[in-house]
Amino acid sequence: MNGNYFSKESVLQQLLQEVEKRYALQSSPTLIHKMSAIFEKLPLEAINEWVMMLRSLNEDHPEWQSFIENLTVHETYFNRDQNVLDNIKNVIMPEILKNKSQEKRISIWSAGCSSGEEAYNIAIIAVESLMKHLNLSHSQFPEKNILDSGWTIKIIGTDLSKQVIRVAETGVYSNAIMGSFRSNTQNLLHYFDLKKEEVPEELSNGIKYYQIKPFIKSLVTFSQMNLLSKSPSVLNFDMILCRNVLIYFNDENKKNIQSRFLSHMHEHSALILGTVDSCFLDNINVFNHNGCRWYSKQSLWNNIHGTKNKVSVISDQEVN
Ligand SMILES: C[S@@+](CC[C@H](N)C(=O)[O-])C[C@H]1O[C@@H](n2cnc3c(N)ncnc32)[C@H](O)[C@@H]1O
Repeated sequence: MNGNYFSKESVLQQLLQEVEKRYALQSSPTLIHKMSAIFEKLPLEAINEWVMMLRSLNEDHPEWQSFIENLTVHETYFNRDQNVLDNIKNVIMPEILKNKSQEKRISIWSAGCSSGEEAYNIAIIAVESLMKHLNLSHSQFPEKNILDSGWTIKIIGTDLSKQVIRVAETGVYSNAIMGSFRSNTQNLLHYFDLKKEEVPEELSNGIKYYQIKPFIKSLVTFSQMNLLSKSPSVLNFDMILCRNVLIYFNDENKKNIQSRFLSHMHEHSALILGTVDSCFLDNINVFNHNGCRWYSKQSLWNNIHGTKNKVSVISDQEVN
C-alpha cells in the first residue's frame, strides 16, 4: 500500500483476477502489457479508483465493455485451417445432412466468431454441402434451389466484443495485406460483390472492399455474448465451432465452456475446437480424419475410413 492506495502491481493483479473471473481471459504477458499501458497514463490514485469502480460494475456495463475491447485478440480470416474446413465440407456435413433429411433444418454456432469470417465461411460450406446432398450443380445459383428444397440453414455467430460483432454484421471485408482474404480464397470470391469505390482509385492504395452476397448474409445472425456466462437460445446445434478462442482460458473455464457446448448438442452434433485445443469432456467420441479432429456424443462417423474413436463416460452433473 502507498498511503491509502494499493501499488500499481497489486491493482494490476486484482484487475487480472477480475477479468479472468468475468470473461475467462487468463493472465498472459500480452494482457499484462496491455493493462500496464493503460496504467502508465494514470496516477496511482486514479488507477485505484478506476479499478474499484470497475469491480463494482456489472460485466455488461459500457465501462467494462470498452475496457475489454482493448484486451481481446480478434485475429481471423477466411479459409483459416483449410484442412479442417475441407473435412467439414467433405466428411462432417454430408453425415449431418443425411441425419437431418427428415427435419431439413441445420443450425450451427460459431462461438468466438470475431468479425464473422468463420461464420460466413461455414455458411458457404453448408450451402455447398447441401447443394451436393441435393444433387444440384454448383453452376445453379443456390438461393432459389435451397429455398425450393424446403431446407433451412441457420448460423449463429457470437463474440464477447461488440466492435467485431458490428463488423461481422456489415459483412464487408477488404483485401488489405494480412486481412480477411490472406489465405487462398479463390473458391469463396463468387459469394461476394465487389463494392463500388467510395474513394478515388489513386487514394485507395489498391484496397478493395467485398460485400458478402445477401443470400449468404441472410443465413447468419450475430450477437454479442460472453461464453463464460451465456449461450444462444437454440437448444441443439448440429455443429459448434470454437476455434482459437479457448487458448486464452484456464483449464477449468475450458472445461466449463465445453460442458456448456455439450448441453447444446444432440446425439449426432459435431464439436470442432481449434487445432491446438484439448477436449476436457470425458463422455465424448473423438474422430480424426485427414488431420481434422472433432467430437460427438454418438458415432455417425464410425464407418469412415481413418476416423479413430474413443468413448468414455461423463456424469450428468458435469454436463451442466
Ligand atoms: C482469435 S479470435 C478467433 C476467431 C475465429 N474463431 C477464428 O478461429 O478465426 C478469438 C475471439 O474470441 C473472442 N473471445 C474471447 N473471450 C471471449 C469470451 N469470454 N466470450 C466470447 N468470446 C470471447 C474474442 O473477442 C475474439 O474475437
